[in-house]
Amino acid sequence: MTAKRFKNPRAEHGYQGRPCSILSVGSYVPERVLTNAELEKTVETSDEWITSRTGIKERRVAAENEFTSDMAAIAAQRAMQAAGIKPEQIDLIIVATITPDMLFPSTACLVQQKIGARRAAAFDIEAACSGFIYALEIGKQFITSRTYDTVLIIGAEKLSTIVDWKDRNTCVLFGDGAGAVILQSRPGSHGLLTACMGADGEKSDLLYMPGGGSMCPATANSVAAGLHFLRMDGKETFKNAVTAMCNAAGEALRRCELTIAQIKCVIPHQANKRIIEAVGERLGVREDQVFVNLDRYGNTSAASVAIALDEAVRTGVIQRGDLVLLVVFGAGLTWAAAVIEW
Ligand code: UT7
Repeated sequence: MTAKRFKNPRAEHGYQGRPCSILSVGSYVPERVLTNAELEKTVETSDEWITSRTGIKERRVAAENEFTSDMAAIAAQRAMQAAGIKPEQIDLIIVATITPDMLFPSTACLVQQKIGARRAAAFDIEAACSGFIYALEIGKQFITSRTYDTVLIIGAEKLSTIVDWKDRNTCVLFGDGAGAVILQSRPGSHGLLTACMGADGEKSDLLYMPGGGSMCPATANSVAAGLHFLRMDGKETFKNAVTAMCNAAGEALRRCELTIAQIKCVIPHQANKRIIEAVGERLGVREDQVFVNLDRYGNTSAASVAIALDEAVRTGVIQRGDLVLLVVFGAGLTWAAAVIEW
């Protein structure tokens, strides 16, 4: 079908594993819409500032009794329904999140129970906003090695619980939601061609949450000091995001001997429209190649590209056989890019 369009990096390494495809995708965002106009009433900000500096107009906020695992389970059920996959078929569940329901057990285990995937092994991974591509690449290894036949990958976040709603520097940026994909080996498809992942722990202090871990467990003092809210150096994060996303995307394309013009749809992490524009400009991406939905959801971290991928597929922007480039960046620092034959 498309065998001659690109170089398959798996073949280059003499690796005989079978291909891994995304069989289907699903997503869920909470009902509650929080607009810029509402934020104007709670912090010193304006719709004009948020729109011009970020591109965000509104975001979704989960209900108090709606948790990351609930959103993840609905996204998973939608992906399963789209592919006609039954819960018992799922061999493995990986959830990428920085806002698990609890530190343990993993959110993946809670999702396993909620969707009735009794046979599935389950674990979480944490690579912040890069988590979904990290999880995809991990899941792919189980398919190509024939360890498992059906893997469920989810990116899900309830960031509204770790955002300081009094801090205008961060509270306008984030939202809640979940996206999920089913991985299988699909005959006739090359699927996930390559993924480039990277990290730089030297810059871990650009975006982090100090409280709640073993370094700073919850105490009355830690709560009073606001240590359980995320902290970000926006400007430095911005600069690093542009460089890392460009490098990762460039490397992923090079591995497949593809040019950016051959990519049907670029789905970047939905953090800031200006980051997306800067990355697009450097990579030579046409405006009609980029999928953007951050105006409606803000930055949903690990759920971001998964929700966007679902919208792109559902609205017909991506068709079977199209080449898709996903590129992400997040705390850690972490980054990743993946090329997929849809
Ligand atoms: O998910 C991956 C990680 N996150 C990111 O990728 C985010 C990366 N960073 C960014 O998107 C941008 O840096 C921000 C949107 C966070 C900030 O935009 P900026 O153009 O870098 O603004 P700035 O930080 O330089 O702030 C400019 C001014 C400051 O005022 P002064 O010091 O110049 O008087 C801020 O206090 O804008 C002020 N400001 C605001 N004003 C109104 C910051 N937040 C707001 C706000 N409303 N919400």
